[in-house]
Amino acid sequence: MSLLNLDLSKIGQTVPMQRVLSHSASATNHLKALYEGTGKGNDFLGWVKLPASIDEDILSRIEAVAEFYRKNTEIVVVVGIGGSYLGAKCVLEALSDNFWQMKDQSAPKILFAGQNLSEDYLAELTELLDHKKYGVVVISKSGTTTEPAVAFRILKNHLEQKIGKASARQHIVAITDEQRGALRTMATQEGYQTFVIPDNVGGRYSVLTPVGLVPIAAAGFGIRALVQGAREMQQATGPDVPFEKNPAALYAAARYELYSAGKTTEILVSYQPKLLYVSEWWKQLYGESEGKEHKGIFPASVTFTADLHSMGQYIQEGLRNIFETVISVRDSKHQVSIPSDPDNLDTLNFLSGKRLTEVNRMAELGTMLAHVDGGVPNIRIEIDALDARNLGRLLYFFEIACGISGYLLGVNPFDQPGVEAYKKNMFALLDKPGFEEESRKVKARLLDSE
Ligand code: PA5
Repeated sequence: MSLLNLDLSKIGQTVPMQRVLSHSASATNHLKALYEGTGKGNDFLGWVKLPASIDEDILSRIEAVAEFYRKNTEIVVVVGIGGSYLGAKCVLEALSDNFWQMKDQSAPKILFAGQNLSEDYLAELTELLDHKKYGVVVISKSGTTTEPAVAFRILKNHLEQKIGKASARQHIVAITDEQRGALRTMATQEGYQTFVIPDNVGGRYSVLTPVGLVPIAAAGFGIRALVQGAREMQQATGPDVPFEKNPAALYAAARYELYSAGKTTEILVSYQPKLLYVSEWWKQLYGESEGKEHKGIFPASVTFTADLHSMGQYIQEGLRNIFETVISVRDSKHQVSIPSDPDNLDTLNFLSGKRLTEVNRMAELGTMLAHVDGGVPNIRIEIDALDARNLGRLLYFFEIACGISGYLLGVNPFDQPGVEAYKKNMFALLDKPGFEEESRKVKARLLDSE
């Protein structure tokens, strides 16, 4: 059984396989460094062996919270941003019915907040919550990030007004650092149930901690299958697996070679709308991990075939600095065949009896060949199905490959110093205490440009 099928045969026109294989020693050493904690950012490597170490106690506690929400709420609002948002969001979108918002389900519906500062978004959310039984899961590792902190203040206030302070406390779960941060202080003071984000796991690598697992369980999905899949992938990509058999090391080496050959943008392609947020999660993972020191592949994404009718032209004939990584899902969950039509006015009878999966697959293979012919190398990653186990495998695969990729590039894949720049200016503009000098300077600059 292969956990995931990595096909590098369509990058050969740009990068011969020998070049990828030449990274055998370096990629293996970087993987060992991730396991042994001898590389850059080694205080943030808790995610590497995480799948194998998630214990029964934590899984049971998470399932108990999910059960409470299932019995007592119709909606759970998950508050968080970046790594405290995208992991849960991507798993939920990938596993849910495409039309879950419109269908009844036994588990509560999961909505998100704190991932933007839109006034309309929160106004419309609280308007909906006025008429619903709901709970709040607030997630912030630092406990001080502005967007989720603002959203949580508003939702906490709303919930307390709606069901009273004592009951609101029971409906709120906080996921944060064990000791530090305003959210930890608030949770202790208010007596919220809490889960810990391990100190040594950064936000974008945290999907298999309570950050991802609590919302996923609250939505009624099997976190054990997700964890099992991740464990399997941990084994299949460990430091003892030979380089030529290690899909994560091969993917990292192939990306590095493509980048060195001038392919500075990687487009993650999928043919399933449910994978849209896997792409968003992947973009954060790779963008925030590699984009530093004026280096790094720019991560982009498309959903085909929809985007073939918008971005297809550029990919086929635009600037030749791109390569694609296609996620292909072999089996669909449902079966829909194209009916025969005696009149055949739409001339589609050549498709009669064919499953949509087959048509989608031919679109995928045809597009791959066209793009390769157009000078866009293609990496292809095939998974068996879009279920929790395969998703767990895929997410861990991308995480471990990202760690190796960052080390191949020579950067620290586990920090994000550049994220602070906007915050400084925003706080200055909002007159946050302590930012007086910055405030004066930033406001003067804005006036200058008027
Ligand atoms: O990956 C990261 O570290 C970031 O994206 C953070 O997750 C994001 O900024 C949110 O931070 P926090 O969880 O501290 O609120």
